[in-house]
Amino acid sequence: MSGALAGRRIVISAGPTFEDIDPARFLGNRSSGKMGFAIAGEAARRGAEVVLVAGPVHLSTPDGVRRVNVRSAAQMHQAVMDAMPCDVYIGAAAVADFTPRAALDRKLKKQPGQDVLLLELVKTRDILAEVAALAQRPDLVVGFAAETNDVAAYARGKLERKGLDMICANQVGLPGCGFESDDNALLVIDAAGDRPLGPATKSALAGQLLDLIGQRLHGAEA
Ligand code: C5P
Repeated sequence: MSGALAGRRIVISAGPTFEDIDPARFLGNRSSGKMGFAIAGEAARRGAEVVLVAGPVHLSTPDGVRRVNVRSAAQMHQAVMDAMPCDVYIGAAAVADFTPRAALDRKLKKQPGQDVLLLELVKTRDILAEVAALAQRPDLVVGFAAETNDVAAYARGKLERKGLDMICANQVGLPGCGFESDDNALLVIDAAGDRPLGPATKSALAGQLLDLIGQRLHGAEA
């Protein structure tokens, strides 16, 4: 197979993470995983060797993709590190930033008269920043940023702080786009500038994003 992605090893994270509080409860988020799964499927169609590290979502595995299921941010970190090294890492998962200090092994009970519950949360490891800092770093490290406001400025800050090559920003709350939707709009930011993609289906956006990634890989070799 020809094309910039043929034979490349691409690791993609997708979906939410669930951080357990006790056997019955968890902290999660509204990521559907659809964007990451669309990228994984399209990359496999283009001949890449794809590992998809998936948080808890009910989506079928795209053809030709090796899927590793995880639940928590810690498990996602481990699975991503186990999948290294690779040529391209795309962090499309909505990884929890904080997790309960310890999951309880019994269901948390409310006490009579209790009005307030304090949960102690500790910072999770930043998978994306750690991948970007690996000695055997992928040629391209691509992040996602979901923002409600000042999208470009926050995303550019993340690009620099986390040592990324490219970041795909999406505005949370745009009608018809985002978390559970089949459509999305992205602002792709890298050293060359800002490029708006969409609004379009997540599968069309996946193709456009992989075109940009293919061009970057090609440029790195030229
Ligand atoms: O800082 P923020 O969480 O908004 O950054 C989002 C990007 O960072 C996404 O690409 C997400 O997959 C990644 N991330 C990560 N590990 C974390 C938190 C975020 O890989 N613990």
